[in-house]
Amino acid sequence: MQKRVNLYITFILLRILINVTCENSPSVIIVGAGPSGIAAATKLYENGITNFTILEAENRIGGRIYSTKFEDEIVELGAELCHGMKDNIVYKLANVYNILQPIEESKMNFCYSSQENVDETFFYELFDLFNDVYDYGFNNVNDTISVGEYLTNRCNEAITINYKNDKQKLKQATEFLDFYITFLTLYSSPFSLFDLSLPLYYQKCEGSYIIIWKHGGYKMILDILMKRYPDPKKQLPIEEKILLNKEVNKIAWKKTSNNSKNIFIETSDGFVFAADYLIFTPSLGVLKNTHRNLFVPHLPENKVNAINKLGFGAVSKIFIHFPERWWPTTDSVNFQFVWSQEDKELMMREFPFGPSKSERTWLLNVLSLESMHEKSNIVTAWCGGEFVPEIEKLTDHLVIDGLMYILNKFLGDKYNITRPYAILRNNWYENPHFRGTYSYESVESRKEGTSQESVLAEPLKTSDGQDVVLFAGEATNPIHYSTVHGAIETGFREAQRIIDTRQ
Ligand SMILES: Cc1cc2nc3c(=O)[nH]c(=O)nc-3n(C[C@H](O)[C@H](O)[C@H](O)COP(=O)(O)OP(=O)(O)OC[C@H]3O[C@@H](n4cnc5c(N)ncnc54)[C@H](O)[C@@H]3O)c2cc1C
Ligand SMILES: *[C@@H]1O[C@H](CO)[C@@H](O)[C@H](O)[C@H]1NC(C)=O
Ligand SMILES: *[C@@H]1O[C@H](CO)[C@@H](O)[C@H](O)[C@H]1NC(C)=O
Ligand SMILES: *[C@@H]1O[C@H](CO)[C@@H](O)[C@H](O)[C@H]1NC(C)=O
Ligand SMILES: *[C@@H]1O[C@H](CO)[C@@H](O)[C@H](O)[C@H]1NC(C)=O
Repeated sequence: MQKRVNLYITFILLRILINVTCENSPSVIIVGAGPSGIAAATKLYENGITNFTILEAENRIGGRIYSTKFEDEIVELGAELCHGMKDNIVYKLANVYNILQPIEESKMNFCYSSQENVDETFFYELFDLFNDVYDYGFNNVNDTISVGEYLTNRCNEAITINYKNDKQKLKQATEFLDFYITFLTLYSSPFSLFDLSLPLYYQKCEGSYIIIWKHGGYKMILDILMKRYPDPKKQLPIEEKILLNKEVNKIAWKKTSNNSKNIFIETSDGFVFAADYLIFTPSLGVLKNTHRNLFVPHLPENKVNAINKLGFGAVSKIFIHFPERWWPTTDSVNFQFVWSQEDKELMMREFPFGPSKSERTWLLNVLSLESMHEKSNIVTAWCGGEFVPEIEKLTDHLVIDGLMYILNKFLGDKYNITRPYAILRNNWYENPHFRGTYSYESVESRKEGTSQESVLAEPLKTSDGQDVVLFAGEATNPIHYSTVHGAIETGFREAQRIIDTRQ
């Protein structure tokens, strides 16, 4: 009797055990090993869902986090700064190890192409004026209007009112506005400010917005997520579940669920994977370019609409290694290049190389030169605006020629500028696994009246309501899109969705 009871209990226990392992061990495929994919993986793992594989198209992990060495220094080809402190998951995870450092924004040094005739304080005055106009609009205007249209109207009004009696100031203010409008593309990455919506759903995290990594670079956040930092012995077995050079090119998902797997995935090298769930993390740029051929059946209409309407642009950072520091070495360098109308016209003749369009050349998209830190021989040129995709295609040699032309034009009277040894850049727009740098809210997406990031985040369901294809990644974050902290939040969110359905 005793024995039979035991047997019975064992039987029940066994059944529970089998049930638990079956129900709690779904298989998951994560597409992309950027911050959102890795965040999703760690959360799944820590909640006992360990049967997952991460398929990554590149030959490295990190995605748009790309900390690498250039001339023995760490440079960030992708994300560089932690933006804000409060409710910022990056800050929360990393600050406990004392490896983050908020820094002061270095003072901008506005340079004027004609070099003479410029009262530098005037450019600061204009910069403050235009920033005030922008801030006012950002906080008070709720119409569907682009930043470009709003600023052109309001700043020109302000310029006319303030400087109508001073011809030279009037001219320089107009020239500065042209600079300012391209300069702002660096923050949100649109190719044109006339495509960027003025009102946004974006929410800033409070606290310092310029926080750098003291050592190791932004990739430290990946080590922290995978618990490889601070104690490598405690690392979660995530990396061994990542398959590199595995580009997903077909995702077949079933609308009617039956007892077999819900999802079949094909990679461009001919492998097929099956899983119960898929978490898709590639960029909005990748979705824009591939969704039609990638998903079988096609994505629902509202998601396609969100993909088409949300914005995805690109900026370019060019790291330049000079043989010697020709710039003043006491402060960090922060040169901003403001062109006069005459020099813009002259430039078309003096440097007719590389892309140009209706009297504007790519050189106008090289906005500033900033130092990495005081002791470095490496400086960064920042490019934003319409020519970024074409700048990516230029040879290093031509880019260096163009940079030398700009530097001599703006600073040649003051300094003996040496030709760089080498430059380093990453072609985010050219690369089919990114197609740009980060997402933004366009005027078109704003016209929809609701957050299109939220639409992008909606899972694909089977007809019986089971979520099977889940969307994470920066652009699916309704309030923190375009950032690393936003990306990590979405990875956690989608992992939690799977965990919840198993309860
Ligand atoms: C130049 C630059 C500067 C930036 N600066 C900052 C900054 O200072 N602060 C900040 O917070 N954010 C910054 N960002 C934005 C930030 O890097 C991104 O928001 C964040 O990395 C997005 O993470 P993600 O996981 O959503 O996407 P990703 O990092 O793009 O990860 C997606 C992964 O999917 C892979 N993939 C794509 N297609 C396929 C496929 N078909 N099959 C398999 N894998 C595929 C990609 O290779 C990639 O590894 C910057 C970005 C860039 C490019
Ligand atoms: C993990 O998932 C794969 C794919 O669905 C499946 O073939 C495999 O048996 C699973 N492994 C475990 C240990 O459950
Ligand atoms: C802007 O408009 C939206 C929708 O019409 C509304 O929900 C929101 O409260 C408005 N915001 C402001 C600041 O007026
Ligand atoms: C489940 O559906 C797929 C395709 O819809 C089909 O090929 C498969 O045979 C079905 N499996 C079962 C167990 O019904
Ligand atoms: C630049 O170099 C020239 C020739 O080597 C020298 O005469 C001149 O003083 C230098 N100028 C500056 C600003 O260092």
